Parts: sequence; structure tokens; C-alpha cells
Amino acid sequence: MKVYYFDNAASSWPKPAQVTEAMSQCMNEYAANPGRGSHQMAVKAGRLLLEARSNLAKLFNIKNPVDISFAFNTTMALNQAIKGFVRAGDHVISTSMEHNSVRRPLEFLKREKGIEITYLQADAKGNVHLNDVKEAIKSNTALMVCNHSSNLLGTILPIEQISEIVKKHGIRLLVDAAQTAGTVPIDVERMGIDMLAFPGHKGLLGPQGTGGLYIHPELELEPLLHGGTGSQSEKIDQPSVRPDRYEAGTQNTVGITGLNEGLKFILHETVEKIHNKEWQLIQRLMEGLNQIEGIRLYGPDLGEDKTGIIAFNFAEMDASEAAFRFDRQFQIAVRAGHHCTPLAHESAGTLKEGAVRASVGYFTTEGEIEYFIEAARKIAMT
Ligand code: ALA
Repeated sequence: MKVYYFDNAASSWPKPAQVTEAMSQCMNEYAANPGRGSHQMAVKAGRLLLEARSNLAKLFNIKNPVDISFAFNTTMALNQAIKGFVRAGDHVISTSMEHNSVRRPLEFLKREKGIEITYLQADAKGNVHLNDVKEAIKSNTALMVCNHSSNLLGTILPIEQISEIVKKHGIRLLVDAAQTAGTVPIDVERMGIDMLAFPGHKGLLGPQGTGGLYIHPELELEPLLHGGTGSQSEKIDQPSVRPDRYEAGTQNTVGITGLNEGLKFILHETVEKIHNKEWQLIQRLMEGLNQIEGIRLYGPDLGEDKTGIIAFNFAEMDASEAAFRFDRQFQIAVRAGHHCTPLAHESAGTLKEGAVRASVGYFTTEGEIEYFIEAARKIAMT
């Protein structure tokens, strides 16, 4: 049965055929332990990791690929960045648009180490105002952490301008690129990003269990994990060399091989083309939903830049009931509820009821968009 997949913000699907093919070939032919032996299979596995790292560096304009360490998802990368960087007595600025993968590690450090946090209040469309960033800065502010795009509203934050403000005060900038890696251009040099956490299984078109963290060469983080790295084994401490310092334990070679194919696909298509296609698709979806009586849309207006996400509600229906009907009556996959971001729902005014979220991907077709609009019309009528 055909599935109409509108949950790309949670995990992109489908993947390019070469992702699955490369993973299967890796598993069958060379899934040995990368960096843990000198036999030919281990060397080939290690080379694959190197190639994926180099492709990530190309995509994000990172000078040295060793400044990227792999993680199993964005949450792990964000935990490494936040817990590895923030010290007792520090003040951190964040926003009300953050996912729990930012908020929960910050709140943990507040409880355990007494750090201070300021959450900038975004407006109902998810915009964070630059003046608020300036006003939140204190003498002990060490880090600003924000997403590049909201996973609820699709609003894109002005990272470059935020960076310009915080840099003047020696504050480091951590960006959560969960919703933009592979779908919105990211240049860590131009945008002044010190740490970039990204998933492999969303816009980068790789499998789940992949992701990573870019760490500026001047920064030294306390590793999140301690253990074997296949290097400097005689030392009691975690090695200082990158990426080993932040990659304890066996890496996900099969997954990273798939991720590498997703990266090659994106580099070939270009992120600009992907962003433009997803933007056109989400605009048409918003336009169609806007014309249905009883549907309320949240986030940026038609014509504004955003990622391929739209959150909405039906006037007389619970969001989870609507998601259930999309699924069971129309084979349309959406996500409903609070999307792990209660503060963003508070900003959008949907904390109580939650919302339905539809998210497109590069492989969504115009026909699927029209089918979605018709299904929403039928749900709204009955
Ligand atoms: N963070 C993912 C989402 O927004 C899982 O659905």
C-alpha cells in the first residue's frame, strides 16, 4: 500500500537507493572495526569514515574534517557540546524555540552545577529578536545555543547576525541543525558557528543512528564518553587527538557508509536546489490548507523563507485524532502532539492542544501535496 510520507522532520524517507545499497555492501563485505586493526577490511572501513567526514566538511565548509566527530544522533551531539563546554558559574542564552535535546541538558546542568540560563522568548511565528540577544548578555555568558530552524514552525533563525552579536562578547555559538543540515545552506566559517550538531537521518538522507558534531579547533571539550579509541591505548586519559577524543567505542560503520551516500547525493544536487524545492512544496501545501475552513496554520506567513514544515490544527478536532485520521483513512504519515518542544508550543499558543505537523522532503511530489490538501478538506468536513 502506498504511504504518503509527511514526517520528514522526524526522519527523512525514502532514502536514495544508493544509501541502502552501500549499507548492504558494507555489511556483507567490509563491516570490520574502523581504526582498530591494520587488516584490509578494517582499513577499508576506516577509509569510509574518512570519506564521510570529508564530505561533511565540504557540505558545511569546515576546514579540517577531524574537527567533526560522529555521534549516534543530534541529541548525543548536543549533549557532548553542552555538557562538554559549559562550566559551573556560566550563563547560557537559549531560546523558547528549542527542542528538549537542548533544554534538558541545560536544565540538567542548572540542577547539577548551578549554571544560569536565559530563554529568549520567540514571537508566535518563531522569530527571535536580535535586540533580545544583546540584552540577555551578562559578564558570565559563555554560550549561546539555538536551533537553525524550529522543528515545529519551520522558522529559520538569523544565525549569522546572532553570531555577530555574541562574538563581540567572546561568547561561543552552538547551533542545532537538526532541521537544516542538508536542506538549508550552512557555512560554519561565514556564519560564525563554533559548534554544529547535526543528524544523519533527516536532511542528510542517511540512516538512523548517525549524526555528528563540528567543534571549532580552538575549543577543548570534556568528552561525553570515555573508552577505547584504537589510539594512544597506553594512556589512562582520553586521547587529545581529534576525532578520537570524542569518538570512544566502535563507530556505526554501516550507518556512516549510508550517510556518505546521502552526502554524495546532496553535494551533487546542491543544498540550494533542495531548499528551493522543499520551499515550493511547503508553500503550495500552506496555500491549499489556508483555503480550508476551520484549519488554522502556525508559523511564518506564505512567501517567507522557512524549512519544509507546517504546523496546523482543525477547529473542532484534537491534533492526535486528526493525525490518526490522516493515517488510517488516507495513509498519510504526520506527527501530532508537542514534538518534544513545549516552549515552542507555548510561543505559538498551542501548548494546551498541541498541533498536527506535516513535513515534506526532497522526494515529496506535487501530486502528494494535492492529495494531502484533499484529505485535509475531507477531514475538516466530517
Ligand atoms: N526531533 C524530531 C522531530 O521533530 C524527532 O520530530
